[in-house]
Amino acid sequence: MKVAIAMLKDTQVELLQELVELHDNKAPYLTEPWTQVETTRYTDPQRFAQERERLFLARPLIAAHVSELPGPGCYKTLELVGKPLLLVRDESGTARCFINVCRHRGAQLVGEPSGCKHRFSCPYHAWTWNSSGNLIGVPHEKTGFPELDRQAYRLTEVAVEERAGWIWVRLSGAGEIDVAAHLGELDGEFERIGAASHVVFDSTVRELNCNWKILVEGGLEAYHFRVAHRDTIAPLFLDNLSSYQCLGQHMRSVLPRSTLPELAGAPSADWDINKHANLLYSLMPGSQFLVQEDHFVWIQGIPIAPDLTLTRLSTMIPAAANTPEEQSYWRRNHDLTMYTLDEDFELGESIQRGLDSGANPHLNFGRFEGALARFNAAVDEAIA
Ligand code: FES
Ligand SMILES: [Fe+2]
Repeated sequence: MKVAIAMLKDTQVELLQELVELHDNKAPYLTEPWTQVETTRYTDPQRFAQERERLFLARPLIAAHVSELPGPGCYKTLELVGKPLLLVRDESGTARCFINVCRHRGAQLVGEPSGCKHRFSCPYHAWTWNSSGNLIGVPHEKTGFPELDRQAYRLTEVAVEERAGWIWVRLSGAGEIDVAAHLGELDGEFERIGAASHVVFDSTVRELNCNWKILVEGGLEAYHFRVAHRDTIAPLFLDNLSSYQCLGQHMRSVLPRSTLPELAGAPSADWDINKHANLLYSLMPGSQFLVQEDHFVWIQGIPIAPDLTLTRLSTMIPAAANTPEEQSYWRRNHDLTMYTLDEDFELGESIQRGLDSGANPHLNFGRFEGALARFNAAVDEAIA
C-alpha cells in the first residue's frame, strides 16, 4: 500500500536534480561557511527559559493527531511543556483544550490518559464540568458557595486549532491561534503530507538527558550515517549527501537513498521523490516529520530542562493500510525507526555529558552541516 506525499512535481524534480548533480560530481551540499556555536547554548538555564517561553509556550504546538479525538466526548490528557492538558471534543464536535486542573482547590481533574465522556467530575469534591468547559455541578453549592458565578469558574481554556490533520494548541498569550501564519510558506506542502488520512500506529516515549536542540540537529545532516548508523540504515542512503531548504523558520531536508543514481538515465517526468529520498520537515520549535515511501514518522521533542527532553516518536500509517495483515509490517517499521533513533539519542546524551567538561568552548558545524547553523540561527532569531 503506497500513500506517498503529493509534493508538486516541479519541486520534486528540482530537489532531485540538485542531488543527482552533486552525486555525479562526487560533491556534498555546501551552502554555509564552516561555523561554530557556543557550548553554553545547550546548558545555560537563562537561555533555556527564553526558549521555553518564546518558542514552546508562545508558538503553536501539536498536542494530538485528529484521529486521537475521533468523535464528540473523546478526550485525551497529556502534559506539554510543563502544562497538564485536557483535550476534548465538545458536543458540537469542536476540539477544545483546557488546563487539566480543578477550579475549586486545584486537584488534577482527569486522571485517565484517554476516553470518551461529556462530564468531568473532580475526584476530590466532585465539582463537575461539561466538555465545553462549563461548570455544571457543585455539591452543596448554596450553603458553601452562595452566589457562586459559575461562568467565572469555567475550566481554564487554551487556544486550539485543527489544521492539516493535527490538533494544535498555543500555551501562552491571548487571542486566536493562527497555525497558517505559523507554518508560513510551508502551509500547503505540510498539508500535502496527508496526515489527516493517517492514524497513529504506535508511539514510543523516551526521556532523554540532553538539550532539545541536540536532538533536532541529529536529524539535519547525513554526515554521520556511515559511522553512527553503519549497522542499521547506512546502506540505504548515500554517504554524506543531503540538501535542505529554509522555509521561513522551518526547514525541509532531502535525504537521498542509495537508489538516487538510477534517476540519471530516466526522464525527469517519471521521477518520484518518494522512491529515492526521505524528506524531513523540521518545524520550529521541536517537531520533525520524516516522510518515507509509504508512511511517515512524527518526532516531537518537548523540553523539560536544559539537559532533559521528553521525546515522543509516532509511526503514522495510512488509515486504509491499518489492516490485520499489515500489522507485522508496520511493527517492523516502527521498531527499526526506534532502533535507529536510539543510536542518535545515545549520541545526543553523550554530547550533553561532555558539554560541561571544558573540552569545547565551541562545537563545530562543517560546510555540509549548514542546516545545523541555519536551525540555530532561526532559534536565535525567534527568541531575540
Ligand atoms: S479540588 Fe476539585 S472539587 Fe475540590
Ligand atoms: Fe541519525
